[in-house]
Amino acid sequence: MHMSNEPLLDAVKIQRRVAELATEIREAYPDGLPLCLCVLKGSVFFAADLLRHLDDGAEVDFIRAQSYAGTSSTGQVTLSHLPGMQLAGRAVLILEDIVDTGRSAAAILEWAWAQEPASVQVCTLLDKPSRRAVELRADFAGFVIPDHFVVGYGMDYDERYRNLPAIYVLESGEGSKSGTEPE
Ligand code: IMP
Ligand code: MG
Repeated sequence: MHMSNEPLLDAVKIQRRVAELATEIREAYPDGLPLCLCVLKGSVFFAADLLRHLDDGAEVDFIRAQSYAGTSSTGQVTLSHLPGMQLAGRAVLILEDIVDTGRSAAAILEWAWAQEPASVQVCTLLDKPSRRAVELRADFAGFVIPDHFVVGYGMDYDERYRNLPAIYVLESGEGSKSGTEPE
């Protein structure tokens, strides 16, 4: 496994788009900002940057979703670290780093709706629609990307590379293709 030399998305491009997403979100919620639900761990960097573009009414809590081992999704989503804040009656915005098969976001949506919120939407920095295994539409998406396994800006390969400021494609050695293993 090695990273592409050139980033797929450099830090300047990411920051510009994050600022635009904040504007889109403010416009979509004229009556008050939603409670942002940051999905651990991958979305922490994205959420921190996005929230700094929202005004001081922005609230954040966290939820953990795990499904990946290496570059392949296990298909089973485990939710943990459930938010302490009450979602009932609130407008909730789920902040994801990347929507791939859609299973994590679908599991979080299902859990969130069960808390009887006023609304739930999904904002993802990256969207890989070609990999969808369940029906899931992101309400806000930063970048639509092709079927690559990416790292950086929160996204990991076995817990590495999250701290990179840009997003890189992880390229596998000969014989295998990353991100496309059967689930
Ligand atoms: P999904 O459940 O298949 O949509 O995957 C969602 C989660 O898997 C994301 O929140 C990421 O944490 C992880 N993931 C999916 N694709 C990638 C990738 O290309 N690089 C790193 N993590 C990924
Ligand atoms: Mg992950």
